[in-house]
Amino acid sequence: MARILGIETSCDETAAAIVLDGRHIEANVVASQEAVHRETGGVVPETASRLHLRALVPVLEETLARANRDWREIDAVAVTHGPGLAGSLLVGLNTAKALAFARDLPFLGINHLEGHVYANWLVDSAEPRFPLVALIVSGGHTDLVLMEAHGRYRRLGRTRDDAAGEAFDKAARMLGLGYPGGPAIQRAAEGADPQRYSLPRAWLKGSYDFSFSGLKTALLRTVQSGGSEPVVPDLAAAFQEAIVDVLATKTIEAARQFGAQTIALAGGVAANLPLRARVQELSHVPVLIPPVRLCTDNAAMIAAAGHFRFEAGERSELDLDAFPSLPIA
Ligand code: KG4
Ligand code: ZN
Repeated sequence: MARILGIETSCDETAAAIVLDGRHIEANVVASQEAVHRETGGVVPETASRLHLRALVPVLEETLARANRDWREIDAVAVTHGPGLAGSLLVGLNTAKALAFARDLPFLGINHLEGHVYANWLVDSAEPRFPLVALIVSGGHTDLVLMEAHGRYRRLGRTRDDAAGEAFDKAARMLGLGYPGGPAIQRAAEGADPQRYSLPRAWLKGSYDFSFSGLKTALLRTVQSGGSEPVVPDLAAAFQEAIVDVLATKTIEAARQFGAQTIALAGGVAANLPLRARVQELSHVPVLIPPVRLCTDNAAMIAAAGHFRFEAGERSELDLDAFPSLPIA
């Protein structure tokens, strides 16, 4: 029985959580900066880190209070140390280090993407079985990953340009639908006709990589094509359909090829209802999908990932660095 305190500040949510045994949430607090970033149509990094500074201590206090736990009942502190926005990461990372040092607690730095995958351990179902194919789709990442055991990953494919969430966000801006784009496009597309417009899919045959820049350009051309006014709901539906089509098809193909026992969806874009429905419809193995509040950034997923590393005896040193993106050789 281990009780892990998780902290997540990689982008625009200030989050803390307490998770028991990597599977049971005792408290999960997220202070969203969304309203502020809506004003600027996206996240301004300096604004994000300042808001984390202001919110993190109250969020931590709220988390302990909601779980009705005392510091003495916490077994370890797990924190996102990358990838993400540098200034934002540093707020969470340094707070976690200070807490671990002051309370003499084990300390673990967790990869944000690994955290997203572990949101699937927080759902009320049987424990996910390996090998598992995970589709990690967020504002910054689109990765198809084969997970062979706890902490053992093989990347099968990734985006060659925009992340799926980024594509949603840019498309929503072109269509005048606001930020964040994914939920706005999903809402606009409800009940619309995805067949009115034909948008391209980059299949990149023989590879599990993705590409969304051609789709984005095609959308822009349609919006600007001078002819009749674009029908925004139908365009949103066609755009969403093109992304869902490629993401779902490749995930299912990978699951077949690598004999997956489970498919797991992860990251903010996994909140997309048509994507969830399509993968479930096509899959021959159980599909795990976290509830929407655990798909978008939160600290419960970081605590869950931290639990399995903690149980495996791993510890991070207090000089652990933040890594905003992958190291450049
Ligand atoms: O994982 P996340 O909360 O933050 C990152 O780590 O990036 O993902 C945020 C992304 C945004 O691009 C947002 O537009 C997208 O997830 N998103 C969605 C939906 N909800 C959030 N995309 C499509 N459909 C949704 N319902
Ligand atoms: Zn994320």
